[in-house]
Amino acid sequence: MTDSITLARPDDWHLHLRDGAGLKAVLADTVQRFARAIVMPNLKPPITTLALADAYRERILAALPSGSTFNPLMTLYLTETMPALEIERASRSGHVHGVKYYPAGATTNSDNGVHDLTHCAEALEAMEALGIPLLVHGEVTDPDVDIFDRERVFIERHLTPLVMRYPKLKLVLEHITTASAVKFVLTTDSNVAATVTPHHLLYNRNALFQGGLRPHYYCLPVLKRETHRQALIKAVTSGNPKFFLGTDSAPHGRSTKEADCGCAGIYSAHGALELYAEVFDKAEALQHLEGFCSHFGADFYGLARNSQKITLKRQSWLMPASLPFGDDTLVPLRAGEEMSWQLMP
Ligand code: DOR
Ligand code: ZN
Repeated sequence: MTDSITLARPDDWHLHLRDGAGLKAVLADTVQRFARAIVMPNLKPPITTLALADAYRERILAALPSGSTFNPLMTLYLTETMPALEIERASRSGHVHGVKYYPAGATTNSDNGVHDLTHCAEALEAMEALGIPLLVHGEVTDPDVDIFDRERVFIERHLTPLVMRYPKLKLVLEHITTASAVKFVLTTDSNVAATVTPHHLLYNRNALFQGGLRPHYYCLPVLKRETHRQALIKAVTSGNPKFFLGTDSAPHGRSTKEADCGCAGIYSAHGALELYAEVFDKAEALQHLEGFCSHFGADFYGLARNSQKITLKRQSWLMPASLPFGDDTLVPLRAGEEMSWQLMP
């Protein structure tokens, strides 16, 4: 039995860092584990221009623990009025590594997102030409579609036509949750990849209703049934480079989660890497953990792999029941429960 595993330092290819006091509260958890992270742009107001992305990047750098070399990889929030020139400028800056496509109304702060993707042709053509990845929140917002089917229907209605129209566009289907998404990624070319979260690998939709309503398991896309979770585990533990780590760690204060209309998002930065190790360990696939955590994402984004190393040990520890979060608190994934892998200092 492997009790210790050393990996090239991982990167998080999908992360919400928020801003202000929230940013200060959560950043250290990510920095402790990851060398870089793709930082989501769904702030209020959203990061729709290079100027906003640069200013946000400066605020993240200013909030870093002293001596940290953590590198925030910025993204732009796609709008129907985004000009090709903004993409060109962003590409030249070297700081922007993707453009996030939120279908309007699909999730947290997506109101300024896209109603009709055909209105984004100018930006998409520029991205395809310049090799800037489109990062997709893959869910339809049609209220007639059952919430558990929104990813599958999005693939059928929007994604399949999109990859046909832009065959060279680099595309990451973010936080995949279904067997349909796995199949889509497996049957497209190498310019299409996916991120997978720890929560979608560890829990199915029963977790939302275990002994009562559990708001801290509520995220979007929502947790799915067990057959889908099994399809995700099979995909990530196969060693296929099209699937890589993206935590979608999305902090919301306890008071906004435990509410009559609670926010979507699961905070996992505090133990994400350790939880992925648990998944690969249970599947007897620890030999594929490093590829998923530390190699495949960097290769897809055309960035160098990290040379620094980290070590995880099979060692139990207790996840705190809550963490500070500005004036509020944060309930992390696995709150108050045992963890089986630990990051060595
Ligand atoms: O659960 C989620 N939370 N899903 C998203 O797509 C957004 C995120 C957030 O920003 O809170
Ligand atoms: Zn996200």
